[in-house]
Amino acid sequence: MKLRNLEETALFARKLGNELEAGDVILLVGDLGAGKTTLTKGIAKALGIEDMIKSPTYTIVREYLDGRIPLYHMDVYRVTEGIEELGLEEYFEGDGISVVEWGNLLDVETPENYLQITLKRTEVEEERELTLLPVGSRFTQLVEKLEK
Ligand SMILES: Nc1ncnc2c1ncn2[C@@H]1O[C@H](COP(=O)(O)OP(=O)(O)OP(=O)(O)O)[C@@H](O)[C@H]1O
Ligand SMILES: [Mg+2]
Repeated sequence: MKLRNLEETALFARKLGNELEAGDVILLVGDLGAGKTTLTKGIAKALGIEDMIKSPTYTIVREYLDGRIPLYHMDVYRVTEGIEELGLEEYFEGDGISVVEWGNLLDVETPENYLQITLKRTEVEEERELTLLPVGSRFTQLVEKLEK
């Protein structure tokens, strides 16, 4: 799917955010500047979270508890070792939504159901190619709905 500009990214993020439930895991894949944090901010907004300001790059996990459902925003780009000790599984199984930037670098056990979203720049400045890879029945159904 093509996201032609920031507005379309925001719109997609809102649609996705409105569908998310506690326990959902979203893995975000894409190069530096692809738009992973931008997409996460849109999801946060859809959940009614007002104060999502920073990228979690140096903190690994940030928790936002002031929305419809808790949001756990993670960025595992700089995690080289000790990923097992971070307890990410506990977030994944928790009662919030986990959004993981650089989710493809995770070599912990992934949950049974998750949605992998890949963002890719194109030759057009504000355009992004979005690919949705659902794993498990919950996200297979959700992706069908989102792609309509
Ligand atoms: N259609 C679009 N969707 C998302 N971001 C866009 C779009 N068009 C332009 N941008 C810009 O691209 C940049 C994306 O940065 P962002 O921090 O979201 O990337 P990132 O994937 O999180 O990078 P990093 O790997 O460094 O965390 C922002 O400056 C954003 O405004
Ligand atoms: Mg980022």
